[in-house]
Order: sequence, then structure tokens, then C-alpha cells
Amino acid sequence: MEEAPPADQARDPAQDPAQNAVGLVLSADDIRERVAELGAQITRDYAGRSPLLVSVLKGSVLFLADLVRAIDLPVRVDFMAISSYGPGGRSGVVRILKDLSSSIENEDVILVEDIIDTGLTVTYLLANLRSRQPRSLEVCALLDKSVRRIIEVPLKYKGFDIPDEFVIGYGLDYQGRYRNLRGIIGVRDIESLSEHAEEVVAPYV
Ligand code: IMP
Ligand code: MG
Repeated sequence: MEEAPPADQARDPAQDPAQNAVGLVLSADDIRERVAELGAQITRDYAGRSPLLVSVLKGSVLFLADLVRAIDLPVRVDFMAISSYGPGGRSGVVRILKDLSSSIENEDVILVEDIIDTGLTVTYLLANLRSRQPRSLEVCALLDKSVRRIIEVPLKYKGFDIPDEFVIGYGLDYQGRYRNLRGIIGVRDIESLSEHAEEVVAPYV
């Protein structure tokens, strides 16, 4: 058996590069609690109606799956897949890879997003969806990295305001991985994540 490190060293994050790489933490319980509140709010706001939740693949599917179960209404879901162009994929120029499977004319549409960062992607999507004449159109995002906002976004339903850290888990990925973490963690230093990936994510798997 390996000898345990001295207690004070184990507790000092400065001595632990894996711990040091992690900033913000939203536990599975934090997320569950907040998603339940959002679902209750949507249930009240859309009483007597049957909203259509439009989810943007792939990051928002875990959020969508929990959100629909927190809404006590006859909701329906549909999906879009997009790809972003430009420097870092952040130009706001979006190509639709998979479109909705049916018309949204006269529907009460809620666009479900994992995270709003610059706001460019959701701004493009809102313009695109609005042109199809839904009866109403709102945005529900789990995370709002508002300090990075370039364009103001009408965000009706928001899970958490988060600092300017790259986040992974609960659907959010880094190079396609970590979507299956139960919680969400902010990565201060993406290199530490690559070097110590297993230790960093182990508590959240
Ligand atoms: P925006 O157009 O800058 O608002 O970008 C939004 C999209 O960028 C999100 O839907 C995510 O796919 C991705 N994104 C932004 N920030 C993060 C992050 O911290 N982790 C993972 N993906 C992110
Ligand atoms: Mg996304």
C-alpha cells in the first residue's frame, strides 16, 4: 500500500497540480436542484400550452434530457446541429448541419443551450428560428459566461452565471471528451487538464 501524503500537503491545492487546474465546480446536486427550478418556472410560464424545446447538438443534450423531465407539460423536442466558422469557430457564421424535423410556425419554441459565451451562435440561431414565424421564442441556457458577451442575448431562463473559465462536463466537451462527467468543472489551465486528466476528472466521473 502507498504511504499517504502528510495531511497538510494533501489539503494544500498549491501542492496539487490536478486540484489547482480546477476552478468553478457545479456538483451533480447543484445542477439537479437548479434544473428542477428551471423546469418549475417553465411549467408555470407555459401552463396550458405545449412548448417545443429545440436543442442544439451536441452539448445541450444532457441538459435537455433532465430539463424535459422537470417540466410538467406535454412538451415536445427537436434538434439542430450546427458548425461554426471563423477564428476559433467564433465568428458567428454558422452552418446548419442538421435542421429541425418539422415546421415551428405558430409553436411556442424554447431554444435550449448548454452555454452562452460570446452570444454569437445563439444570436444567429434566434434570427434563423424567428424567420420561421414561431408564436413565441425564448432561450433557456444552463450556463451564462456573461463576461465574454459580444452581443446582448435575450436570456429568459438561466441556470448559472459562471466566470470566464473553460468548462467541461454535463454535456460540455474539450476535444469531444468529458461530456459524461456528472458535474461541471472549470478548467483554469487546459494544459494541466491534458497532463493530469485522470486525476482532475476522477472526482466527477
Ligand atoms: P458563443 O457563440 O461564443 O456564445 O459560443 C457558444 C458555444 O461555444 C457553446 O454552445 C459551446 O458549444 C461552445 N463553448 C463556449 N464556451 C465553452 C466552454 O467553456 N466549454 C465548452 N464549450 C464551450
Ligand atoms: Mg453548443
